[in-house]
Amino acid sequence: MAAASVGSGALADTVAATPPMGWNSWNFFAEKVTDADVRAAADALVSSGMRDAGYVYVNIDDGWQGERDAKGVIHPNARFPDMKALADYVHSKGLKLGIYTSPGPKTCAGFTGSLGHEAQDARSYADWGVDYLKYDLCSFIEDQMQAKAPHDPAQQMRLMTGAYERMHDALAATGRPIVYSLCQYGWDAVWEWAPGAKVGGNLWRTTGDITPEWDRIYAIASQQAGLASYAGPGHWNDPDMLEVGNGKLTPAENRAHFSWWAMLAAPLLAGNDLAHMSPEVKSILGNREVIAIDQDPLGKQATRAYAEGEVEVWTRPLQHGGMAIAVFNVGSERHAGTHPFRLNLAALGLHGTQQGKDLWSGKPVSLADQQTIALARHDVWLVRVDAPH
Ligand code: GLA
Repeated sequence: MAAASVGSGALADTVAATPPMGWNSWNFFAEKVTDADVRAAADALVSSGMRDAGYVYVNIDDGWQGERDAKGVIHPNARFPDMKALADYVHSKGLKLGIYTSPGPKTCAGFTGSLGHEAQDARSYADWGVDYLKYDLCSFIEDQMQAKAPHDPAQQMRLMTGAYERMHDALAATGRPIVYSLCQYGWDAVWEWAPGAKVGGNLWRTTGDITPEWDRIYAIASQQAGLASYAGPGHWNDPDMLEVGNGKLTPAENRAHFSWWAMLAAPLLAGNDLAHMSPEVKSILGNREVIAIDQDPLGKQATRAYAEGEVEVWTRPLQHGGMAIAVFNVGSERHAGTHPFRLNLAALGLHGTQQGKDLWSGKPVSLADQQTIALARHDVWLVRVDAPH
């Protein structure tokens, strides 16, 4: 039945059985994105090997929308001459297309939103061949929630969840499997209601927007502590799109950011200019053993095992009894340089020396209790232990 094809139910597990992977236009191109940028990203996903590593969604964020015609049908703006042709192009490369809208009258960047046209827009997307929708609250807040229920938070929340249910139903009615991505910045414990049958979210943002700065990336990562139990096959916490390769992030910061998102079973949506990335950024985004941590079929998001000073240790269980361990040096500017730290295996539930693999050096490693780990500022030590004991 079509109604079961989005979000919850058997097909939900096929559309997002593991966290969605791909690319999104926003973090680099913002509202100036063009058809040519999207095609170039699709080409680069193929030529870089990223598609074959799992990055299949090519997601157009805000900025593609034009105006509605007399019948209310939404048309793209002049930067997107033919959305169906673009979808065909993306599909011809073995990729999938994602798009973006808001339940409000306007999107966050001020383009036409879907208020009052939800079913019609869902049909347009399905006709074009869209496989993924990001639904961003934006102007629905002032235009509906605050206007209709100015002093009533409970009613505001009902209006908001109603908006997400309405689009879920509209997508389901198209009969096309479409990944449903909620974006309302983690308000009202979205992780509790987004994955339910009514809203059927496959992923939901847990925070406000990411920026390509370590402090912001670290703040967002910290806010994922406590959310692990809400993630699983078909429904994922979304700490926002990747900034790997953007801004002035150092190689260590890019590695740590990517490792952290993989530990968190986060959607891996690259947000950089794929057509012009450095070999180093390409090798980080393309590290298949780190990607395999993110995509582990168990879908168990990492928890913070312990923190000591400026070092945090996160672990997640993997299929076949394995375990991933990530040690992050989150230290501030003042402590630049290496940071001596002793690993406490008992705090990870482990007993005695363990054999593992360092997923950034690619080398086998032994983990002994109380061993010293020297980690540069903002760097990560990411180890997979196949037979922890
Ligand atoms: C919001 C979202 C971002 C992005 C922009 C687009 O800020 O959280 O991810 O989609 O809108 O305008």
